[in-house]
Parts: sequence; C-alpha cells; structure tokens
Amino acid sequence: MSATSARDRIRTLYDPELIEALGKRLMHLLGQHFATVENSAGNVLNWVPPEENIATARATLEHSAEPGTLPERFDEMVRLALRRGHNLHDPRYIGHQVPASVPLAGLFDALGSLTNQVMAIYEMGPWATSVERALVELWGDAIGLDRGTFAGVVTHGGSLANLTALLTARNIALGDVWTRGFTSSGPAPVLLAHADAHYSIARTAGILGLGTGQVVKVPLDDRRRMDVSALRTLLMQCRQSKIPVIAVVACACATPIGAFDPLVPIADLCEEFGVWMHVDAAHGGAVAFSEKHKELIAGLERADSFICDAHKTLFVPALCAFVFYRQREHRFEAFRQDAPYLFDPSSPGMAEYDSGMLTVECTKRAAAYGLWGLTALCGPGLFGDLIDTTFEQTRILYELLRAAPDFETLHEPQSNILVFRYHPELATPLSAEQVGDLNRQIRRELIESGEFYIVQTMFNGTGALRVCVMNPLTELQHLEDLLASIRRIGQNRISKDSAAVA
Ligand SMILES: Cc1ncc(COP(=O)(O)O)c(C=O)c1O
Repeated sequence: MSATSARDRIRTLYDPELIEALGKRLMHLLGQHFATVENSAGNVLNWVPPEENIATARATLEHSAEPGTLPERFDEMVRLALRRGHNLHDPRYIGHQVPASVPLAGLFDALGSLTNQVMAIYEMGPWATSVERALVELWGDAIGLDRGTFAGVVTHGGSLANLTALLTARNIALGDVWTRGFTSSGPAPVLLAHADAHYSIARTAGILGLGTGQVVKVPLDDRRRMDVSALRTLLMQCRQSKIPVIAVVACACATPIGAFDPLVPIADLCEEFGVWMHVDAAHGGAVAFSEKHKELIAGLERADSFICDAHKTLFVPALCAFVFYRQREHRFEAFRQDAPYLFDPSSPGMAEYDSGMLTVECTKRAAAYGLWGLTALCGPGLFGDLIDTTFEQTRILYELLRAAPDFETLHEPQSNILVFRYHPELATPLSAEQVGDLNRQIRRELIESGEFYIVQTMFNGTGALRVCVMNPLTELQHLEDLLASIRRIGQNRISKDSAAVA
C-alpha cells in the first residue's frame, strides 16, 4: 500500500464533515435509545452469555468498513453496542451503586474525549485542570471545609482514591518509607477499619506493603455502624503495644447496607489519639448537597482525608472520584517524585496546577468534564434533588416490604441501599440456607428475564436481595411490580422444587 493512500485513509478519519455527520447520527440513535429505555419498552439487561457476546465482538473486528461504507458501518456498530449494553436508564434498573447517569453529563465527557483533553500537567489540560479545581472547591465547601485550607484531586475511581489517600496517611505516619521502604523492626503497623469497609481498603493495605492481614476490623453496632467504644478499645490496645496506626478508616456510608458511621465521635477519638482519620465517603459524600440528608455526614469535615465518588451519587458517568485533604499541605505527600520532563523548573509555581503530582496516573482523562458541564448547566441544587428523590424511593420500597408478609426487611435504610429477602410462609418451612438459595435463584432468573436488574448479597451469612435506587426515574409502580415479579418467580420455584421432591 502506498504512503499516499495511507495518508488519504487517515485524513478521511479526521474529516470535520464526517465527524459532524456521524455525530448527528449518533445523537439520533441515542435519542431513540433513551426514549425506548426510559419507557421500559424492552429488557433492562438483554442477557447474552459471555461466550456469545465475545464471539460477536470478535466477529466485528474481522470485517472493517469498506471505502465509502463508513457511515453505514458506524450505524450498525452503534446499534449493536446499544443492543448488547446494559440499560441503566430503564427505571427498573435498581442494582449496583452505578447510576442511571444524567445523559447531559455524558455529552460533556464526549467533548473532553473527542478533543482528547488530558491532564498530568496544567499546560496539557488547562480547562480540565480548572474545572476540576473549581469542583473540588464547590464540593469541599458543601462538606464544610474552609476554602483555601484544603486540597483535592480527581482520580479514576473510588478504589484508586482510597489508595491515594491512605498512601498519604502511610507516608506521613511512617516518615521515609516512600524512599527507604519498610525498615522498622518494631510492631507492624495497622489500619483500623470499619468491619464492612469496601474491599479496596484491604487491597490498599496489600498494595502499600502493610499486608491485608494488618487491616483490623473495628466491630459494628446493631445498625452496622462503627462501634465507637470498640474503636477506643482498639486504639488503647495499639497505644499500649506500641503498634503504629496508619489510619482509622470510617465509612459514609458502608457498601453492604449503606450505614453511615458516627463521624463526630470518631473524629474526637482520632484527635485524642493523634491518628489519621480517613473516611470512605465514596457513596455518601454527595449528601452534602441535600439539606434533608447532609446531617448524615456531620463530622466529615474533620477527617484528614476522605473520598467521594461523583460517578456514584452525583449521577455522572464513570469514572470521577474525588480525594480530599483537610490540610492542603498534605496534598504532595502521597508521591514524592521528580519527573523532570514533565515538571518545568523554569516555572516552579506551575507544579501547584499539575495534577500528576497528586495522583497515581500520569496521563489522566478530563474526568470532571461531565460533572462540570452538569453543575454549570443546572446548579448544585440538582444533586440535592437526585439524592432526595432516590433516598425517598428507597424508603417507599422499605415500607412496601414491611407491609408484605412474604418479605423480610433486614434493616431500615439510611440511604438508597436496601437489603431484604423474599421469605414466604409455607406449610413446609424453609431453612435459612434454603431461603438464601431461593433468593439468589430468584435474582438470577429476574435479571436474565430482563424484567428488572437488582443485586444479590450475603446478610448475616445468608443470601439476600440488594437494591440500590440509583435511578431517579424509578417510581412506586416499578417498585410494586418488582415485588410482584419476585413473588411470582419465587412461588414458581417453590412449586417446581416441591413437585420434584414429590
Ligand atoms: C464504599 C465504597 N468505597 C469504594 C468503592 C470503590 O469505588 P470504585 O468502584 O469507584 O473503585 C465502592 C464501590 O462500590 C464503595 O461502595
């Protein structure tokens, strides 16, 4: 193939008219898609076994577009991706802590992607850096931090955010460990973490060289919140045994049932013992924007570090996670490295604006574009509305379950997460294990049928159903239909099982 033809082929792809035409086509197809999905006109999840999906994906790679057929091929590929994807915008999607994101935010993300705005250094992504800074200020203010005294950065997800903040805590607690590694012959350091903390905390301990076994689980109270008196006992024991505590890790809220820790007494204890307080507020940090629910995170502003995921409860597309440091001087403690080709000594003040100094990532996508666009268009009041609406729907579901004799509520919701079981009264009572298995089978059948999308989990060692109302379009009727579907599938299963036994 000649060099000219290669160049021509490449040029075609950069043709502004082509971009405009395909962009219009994409928007048209997306408009149709949202109309179908938001009205529940199809399945929530079009279940296709993984081998079949992978085979289809492989086949798409085997035939690229012939010259002149690019628009048709583009059309086919978009339709295929929409058909095979998961329809989070269907109001019957109430599954994981991943939202039916506000579609407009995705348009701003696309703006960043299409023009390839990246960060690491200010000059590569001046607007990306600026919007990220402005959003750190906005969210920090809402949480109650003092403007000018705190710092923050956006990173690719809550797991990386926890890792970054706890790396900072480790470097501060253990002095020169960043450069010399672990040299102390004294007792091994620990993290004291909420017993239900997300698995990214144990992973962080492994990655940081502390060891996953060094995560000490702080016992929980009867609402699965950190038990403050148990935390005091652990802190005393560590002090007496001279065990370094890297951090106390609290949750706002914890993943399993959305329980918010009592942050004020935890902050008091951390201050008393001189220990770094970290809060995983990946899910709950957004309540800062809700007048009704902001009390749930009272005390968060006293943590040394905390994380909040905008791609969870601020309803923007993944990934957009924030790490906050109460004291701005801690922002450079995670990574104490020089990269001379990036950071320009002729302009040392610019390092203040170079996100690469604060994150694991060197090149980082403009992850806050979507959040910026949405906030600038609608104002932060939108986030309060989204929180209030989804928390309210969860409370309604809870009341429906309480009123239904064949369902078992397992906790009162503090957020939009709710765990429960289908547990019918029968002539032949089921064992706890059988009820757990039944619930798991119900959920598998439910999601594969495309009727609803919910999650399964374990509660006190037994299988249960878990719902996270991450879709502001979910209404009472959907919730009533959910219970009816679970009941129908459950009863069918029980009849089939008893017929098999007979
Ligand atoms: C409390 C909590 N922290 C951290 C994470 C991890 O966040 P990400 O999935 O963005 O890495 C999750 C995910 O669900 C979570 O619930």
